[in-house]
Order: sequence, then C-alpha cells, then structure tokens
Amino acid sequence: MKFELQHTDVQSKARAGLITTDHGQIETPIFMPVGTQGAVKAVHMPELENDIKAQIILGNTYHLYLRPGLEILEQAGGLHKFNSWNKPILTDSGGFQVFSLAHNRKLTEEGAIFRSHIDGSKHMFTPERVMDIERTIGADIMMAFDECTPGDAEYSYAKKSLDLTERWLDRCITRFNETECTYGYKQALFPIVQGCVYPDLRRRAAENVASKGAEGNAIGGLAVGEPTEKMYEMIEIVNEILPQDKPRYLMGVGTPVNLLEAIERGVDMFDCIMPTRNGRNGQIFTRHGIMNMKNKRWANDFSPIDPEGASFVDTLYSKAYLRHLFIVNEILALQIASIHNLAFYLWLVKEARKHIIAGDFTSWKASIIEDVTRRL
Ligand code: GUN
Repeated sequence: MKFELQHTDVQSKARAGLITTDHGQIETPIFMPVGTQGAVKAVHMPELENDIKAQIILGNTYHLYLRPGLEILEQAGGLHKFNSWNKPILTDSGGFQVFSLAHNRKLTEEGAIFRSHIDGSKHMFTPERVMDIERTIGADIMMAFDECTPGDAEYSYAKKSLDLTERWLDRCITRFNETECTYGYKQALFPIVQGCVYPDLRRRAAENVASKGAEGNAIGGLAVGEPTEKMYEMIEIVNEILPQDKPRYLMGVGTPVNLLEAIERGVDMFDCIMPTRNGRNGQIFTRHGIMNMKNKRWANDFSPIDPEGASFVDTLYSKAYLRHLFIVNEILALQIASIHNLAFYLWLVKEARKHIIAGDFTSWKASIIEDVTRRL
C-alpha cells in the first residue's frame, strides 16, 4: 500500500491524498460503506461502484468468522472473490463487535473469550488469531485487535485498557510480519489509537502507534458515548502526533458534520453505519437538509427525492413515492434510501476533497454545515 499526500489546506489541517492498493486507488478524504457480513445492506456491488462511487468498503472479522466461517472464505479465495467486490476492502478486527455484540465476554491478557450472539457457541480471539482470520478474509487493509474503551470509562480503566491494547498491538504486528496474504496481493495493518477522553492517554497512545511505522493509522474509541466536543479535542491531540505521510482513519464516525469537522482536523478515512441504518429507518440526508421520509408532509410531494442528488434514485423517484414505499414496508424503500444516503456521503467527501485542493475548504465547510443540518 502507498499513500501520497497531494494537498494540505493552508487554513486548516485538511488534506487530500491518494491511497494505492493492489485492488485499486482511493482518493482521500474518503467514506467507506459498511458491509459487515460481506454485503452493504440492500445494495448491489454495481450500484456501489457505479452509482454510489464507493472506492473501498468494510467487512467485519467478527461476523465473517462466525458466518460463513473461514473454511468457506478460504475456499472462495478470499472476500473479494466471494462477494464480487474487486476494489479495496478493509476489515475491522472484531475489537469493537466482540465488546458490543458477543455474550459472556471475558478479557484476559491472552485475548477475548466470548459466546457468539447467533448460537451461543464459545470462541476466543487473540491478537494472533485475529491476524490469521484477517489474512484469510483477505482485505487490503487489516485492523489491529484492540479493546474499544467505552466513552464514559474512568481514567484507571481507560489506562489499563490502553496498556492491554498496546501489548496486543505488538502481538498483532509480530504475527502480521510472520505471515503473508495467500491470495497473491499485499495487505496492510493499521494500528488503532485508544485512550478514551484523556489527553495524556491519547498522546501516549498516538506516540506508541506512530512509533510502529505502519502504513496507515486509526483513531478508535470515539463516538462511543463521549461528548462530541471531546471527540474533536481527541482527534486534534492525536493528529498532532500521527505521521503526516500516512492515512488517518477515524473509526465508526459519523454524521455529515462529524465528517467535515474531522476532515478539517486532518482525518482521511471514515466508516459508519449511519447512512445505511438511518436510511433503512427513513432518514434521508441531502445537501439541503435532513428528511424523515415517513413524515406525512411528503405524502403528496411529487418532486424528485433530491433534484441535485448524486445517484439515479434521486431523480427517478419522487418523495411521495418513497414515502409510500416506507409506509407499506416495501423492500425497495430500503434500497432507495441506502443508495441515496451512501451516494450523498460519497458526494460530501468528494466535494470536501475538491475544496481542499481549490483552497477554500474552510469557507465551503461553514456554508455546507448550515445546509446539511437543516431539518426539512
Ligand atoms: N469501530 C468503531 N470504533 C472502533 C474501535 O475503537 N476499535 C475497533 N476495532 N473498531 C471500531
């Protein structure tokens, strides 16, 4: 993997860059649609590629390990072959899902012991095991196995948790270096900065991560219950320390405004379930504001969903029709909303990139934030 920093904003920390992987290039800042179980919910791969213009998608180690399981993924020749997405993929390590989904989980020095949320079966994730699983899934970017510290953790817990994440990181790196991708292309390993809302822990975590010289670095443990201002403060602290010449990935974030604020603070990559999950619940993000499509006010509004929208669904269908589909529980409602919201998120980061390169990111950001937060 290669990262080329193409442009840095003079008025802020915003950057435009280019990541090159063996499955293609990614222009940053970028938003990565979440395909937890190997599919971005309700969206076909050609729609992702051609209509949404996704450049990289996510998969989840925890889910893919449980189902379909490693044997099937290996027989398929890795996730790209299995799900027919031939562009870059990133896998999260399970360091978040084990703690949010699995039952009876227990943390030890060795790793995390847990019961599957599907059938209660017992499993153990160690840093070594997770590296092996991510090798088998075959994503272009693999995430280190960490503990995602809750946003309201006490200092003493956050410190102990960070100590463990740092020891696990060293074990991840050792195993990563001892193994290789069996599918004939290169994989990169990104470490994750934890440290909760404590500036000294975040600084220490960022210094430790930076010292590993990884091909890219991630910021985790944010948008997990802490105040939004704290999140921005932590991003600023961490990005002062993480290397300039490597991509920075803010995990699990966020709203359109969160993305813009983080881009301004030097973040390059994002993922979040918000556009798909909220879309399936009827919430539509547009450049002129947010709509709840189940609202009665759209019942006889026959104007396009989003006249200036980035995808074909925006002008093909009307607001009234989409509302109707939601009210009668048609599957098509979920498809339209998911395609629309993802296309909007990809449009937003592309515009951000354009304005970073043009040199007017800060003023553009101020005006677009007013627009995208409006309730329609
Ligand atoms: N997704 C969102 N936050 C996190 C995090 O802190 N760690 C991991 N592994 N995944 C995440």
